[in-house]
Amino acid sequence: MGRMLRLLRLFRTEQSEPERFYRELAADSVAQLTRYTTLSGQLVLDVGGGPGQFTTAFLARGARCVLVEPDAAELRARGTPPPGAVRGDGMRLPIADAVMDVCFSSNVLEHVPDPARMIAEMVRVTRPGGVIYLAFTNWYSPWGGHEMAPWHYLGAGYAERRYRQRNHKPAKNKPGTGLFPVHVGPTLRGIRARRDVVVLDAVPRYYPRWTRFVLAVPGLREVVTWNLLLVLRPVGRQSDSGPVTSTAGSSVS
Ligand SMILES: C[S@@+](CC[C@H](N)C(=O)[O-])C[C@H]1O[C@@H](n2cnc3c(N)ncnc32)[C@H](O)[C@@H]1O
Repeated sequence: MGRMLRLLRLFRTEQSEPERFYRELAADSVAQLTRYTTLSGQLVLDVGGGPGQFTTAFLARGARCVLVEPDAAELRARGTPPPGAVRGDGMRLPIADAVMDVCFSSNVLEHVPDPARMIAEMVRVTRPGGVIYLAFTNWYSPWGGHEMAPWHYLGAGYAERRYRQRNHKPAKNKPGTGLFPVHVGPTLRGIRARRDVVVLDAVPRYYPRWTRFVLAVPGLREVVTWNLLLVLRPVGRQSDSGPVTSTAGSSVS
């Protein structure tokens, strides 16, 4: 609970102290990831890592990290991008098969037009036995509409028009071009249907672990999850006997 309250307080500083906000959020996410893997000496891919706050946190933990980010302005938003950063698309990663120990993505999935394709790419580039950390803001989350929230609950078109009228500029995360509805249930089902990956964990990213039961409740999970974290492990094989089941006892459906 202490962690959740700390994060809640932190979210209030995103606009006023962005450097501190991203540093502390990155430290929290990286600490979360170390529940599932060590980082020192590991090769990590940060998909859609913006200017590299998460990459910096991985490097500080002794990992080697490659940042892939399509937007040159984002890459340079903090000055010189981290060494080895490349421009690239999460749906067509410029990375060979099964070379990464860890594939990480924070709050990118809802910004790509084909989330399933990005997930497939993250699985492709991660070695069997490696770890994928995939977190995203689901559409019906109170923050699902990003800068248009909470008006996205009245429809993406309405939320975008309202934002434009009030701010005299289009939303950066314009629905249909920069923001796409991604839902908890369909995403869980899509991942669980894959035969090349096991779900190590599925939890509301910012809440205590015990809250993961909400992910088993259709409807409720779409609103209260806020941000879904999936931790996956590629198994490097295709089974003919149906989806591979989790070895970590994930209880979501
Ligand atoms: C909300 S920011 C998240 C940045 C960082 N990962 C974080 O959690 O703070 C979304 C990022 O996704 C990137 N992005 C958008 N479309 C992408 C794509 N097709 N492939 C990879 N990244 C993409 C954006 O350029 C932006 O840097």
